[in-house]
Amino acid sequence: MKQHRGSWGSNMGFILAAIGSAVGLGNIWGFPYKMGKSGGFTFLVVYAILAIFVGFVVMATELAMGRKTGKGIVGAFCDLSQKFKWVGWLGVIAPFFLLCFYVVLGGYCLEYVVINITQLFGAEALSGSASFGAMVTNPIRCMVYTFIFTAINFFIVRGGIQGGIEKFSTVGMPALFVMLVVVIIRSLTLPNAIEGVKFMFVPGYAVSAGFISESPSFINILSTAGGQMFFSLSLAMGIMITYGSYLGKQENLLKNSGIIVFADTFVAIMAGLAVIPAAVSNGIANGVALSDIQLGGPNLLFVTLQDVFVSMGTMGSLFGVVFYVLVLIAAISSVISLIEVIATMFMDDAHAKNKEGNRQKIVMGICLAFFAVSLVVAADGLGSNGVWVPFQSMLTTVAADGTVSMPVFVDCWLDFLDCLAEGIAMPLGALLMSLMVGFELGPETILPELHTGTKFRMDKFYIICIKYVVPVAMVFILLGQLSSFFGFGWFA
Ligand code: PHE
Repeated sequence: MKQHRGSWGSNMGFILAAIGSAVGLGNIWGFPYKMGKSGGFTFLVVYAILAIFVGFVVMATELAMGRKTGKGIVGAFCDLSQKFKWVGWLGVIAPFFLLCFYVVLGGYCLEYVVINITQLFGAEALSGSASFGAMVTNPIRCMVYTFIFTAINFFIVRGGIQGGIEKFSTVGMPALFVMLVVVIIRSLTLPNAIEGVKFMFVPGYAVSAGFISESPSFINILSTAGGQMFFSLSLAMGIMITYGSYLGKQENLLKNSGIIVFADTFVAIMAGLAVIPAAVSNGIANGVALSDIQLGGPNLLFVTLQDVFVSMGTMGSLFGVVFYVLVLIAAISSVISLIEVIATMFMDDAHAKNKEGNRQKIVMGICLAFFAVSLVVAADGLGSNGVWVPFQSMLTTVAADGTVSMPVFVDCWLDFLDCLAEGIAMPLGALLMSLMVGFELGPETILPELHTGTKFRMDKFYIICIKYVVPVAMVFILLGQLSSFFGFGWFA
């Protein structure tokens, strides 16, 4: 390891930090609902196949690129490639856009921790939708919480790889796991919890029980699983390149990739067991039609689940605190990885100019930059405050029956930024990266790095995947993302 850059204290520390990046809001409000809606166990199988043939391969490639070059996202691409030098920049822009709204969501989680604490001490409990409505329509308060959330992340990343990110992850991730188990036990022991479990796992149950009216097509399931997998594993954001660049030569990249992919999927299923049965149970208890229970997205987190906690009285507030702290840890461990991508880039740049990069100043500058944009997202309150959104009026479409629809992505600032990051930059970045490795450099450039630190070989599998399977999957995922953001319905 080059000493000026620092490194992970241990492989375990690295793994926990990488799992921390992967485990985020996507695992909690995305995966379980998508799994239930898209065929339960069938979805899981499709997801697992994609995770092995695409996610695992891209993850190993990114870690190898980082460790081989010893540089962050921009430096790694510049060192390796002639034609794809510029792709590294996609991996800087994408985390930046993601940060601009992820910190607002982190602020929401923080606010919900506070709401549940005050209820624990006797404050009047509002319904989930009342709390949520009051929160998003109060921009100043949201900005303050966004600021506090950003500050927490600033202090962690300022501490560096070992003294900040690794330290936080080695305490935070085990804590998250324990809290998750506590919430799962409570969730599964509620009346009718089994309905939620069936929704998640039994193929076709979502339709036959009336959660949704029609199951999505296979092509839709495939693109949903692909998009979710990519986002959930924090791929094509420069994160694994950056984290890999701090990893010692003795570590086994293939094994590490396998562990991260498995752990992320495992936690997503656990998160599902923590939230879906509780949400379904409470909906049934209140006589809500199954199709009306909100089981995904911000509504699941901030409306449905808050209702669950409120219905349990004081004990519920306690579970509420535990749950939202858990979500908070998941959000922080993702945000710090995004900040580190940009921080490492600037630190490497300073080093290339023979200067000593000042981490404190660099991280401060990055935080101020995305915080400035996040203020607009906070003010917009998921579209509830009527803030102007770019392209809002340009892309409306008129269907054959005359109904006018707005593209999904311009509904609010969060969707707009998410579309740029998750919808375009991420899949495009991964596609170009696989073309670079598969065809410009050749897999043989990456293979030696995957051989370092292990006797295990899977060269044939790697070559076929990186040259053919990954690019095809990425084109497909890119189209799927675009169609879901722009509402083209190609994959309906
Ligand atoms: N993987 C995180 C989640 O599931 C999101 C994320 C994506 C974080 C990309 C960092 C980079 O929510």
